[in-house]
Amino acid sequence: MARLKVAVLISGSGTNLQALIDACAAPAFPAEITKVISNRPGAGGIARAERAGIPVQIIDHKAFADRTAFDTALNEALCASGIELVCLAGFMRLLTAEFVTRWHDRLINIHPSLLPAFKGLHAAHQAVDAGVRVAGCTVHFVRAEMDSGPIIVQAAVPVRSDDTGESLQARIQQAEHLCYPQALKLIAEGRVKVDGDKTQLLDEGFTEERRLINPD
Ligand code: GRF
Repeated sequence: MARLKVAVLISGSGTNLQALIDACAAPAFPAEITKVISNRPGAGGIARAERAGIPVQIIDHKAFADRTAFDTALNEALCASGIELVCLAGFMRLLTAEFVTRWHDRLINIHPSLLPAFKGLHAAHQAVDAGVRVAGCTVHFVRAEMDSGPIIVQAAVPVRSDDTGESLQARIQQAEHLCYPQALKLIAEGRVKVDGDKTQLLDEGFTEERRLINPD
């Protein structure tokens, strides 16, 4: 069966990109990364893509007059490569409503909180400041409003009393590296149906009821 052609957009170190690369390395995985785009020439994730033999394109936002011009270049690069699904992985640019509409239900993002809580930057710091006991991460379809859209996969991550934003962020990232490949797999298998503001998962496959109580 043909594998879903995926582009990953990055701005930084690319640990989520790495998790997706590792998942796609399994021959049975139903998706393949055929392009990585970075808006920052110095992004650490570029080397990860190159090591995996994935074509990398740098589209430096600073070279464009405005967001629309940048997003147009982005769209052209994706279309030229026959991309079917776009994964944002630490991509630190807000996308225009036009771009988001064009990639409706074919554009996903990972965010380090249990959305809809703690949108925006420094979500782990926000969680520590708010004193929540359970934080987490979310993979969701992208809509024009920042950090919103139908949720595909979430993971809960316990918050410790001595956590800093940094220590919690590091723990959340470990969960992200499980969630993002899982969400990509579900989509590529055709098991995610968008239904209004939510998704329905076909064959969810829960084996037991589980609870996370923190502290336990
Ligand atoms: C992740 O925490 C992700 O949730 C957020 O940006 C971070 C990217 O990290 N959107 P990395 O570049 O994948 O290591």
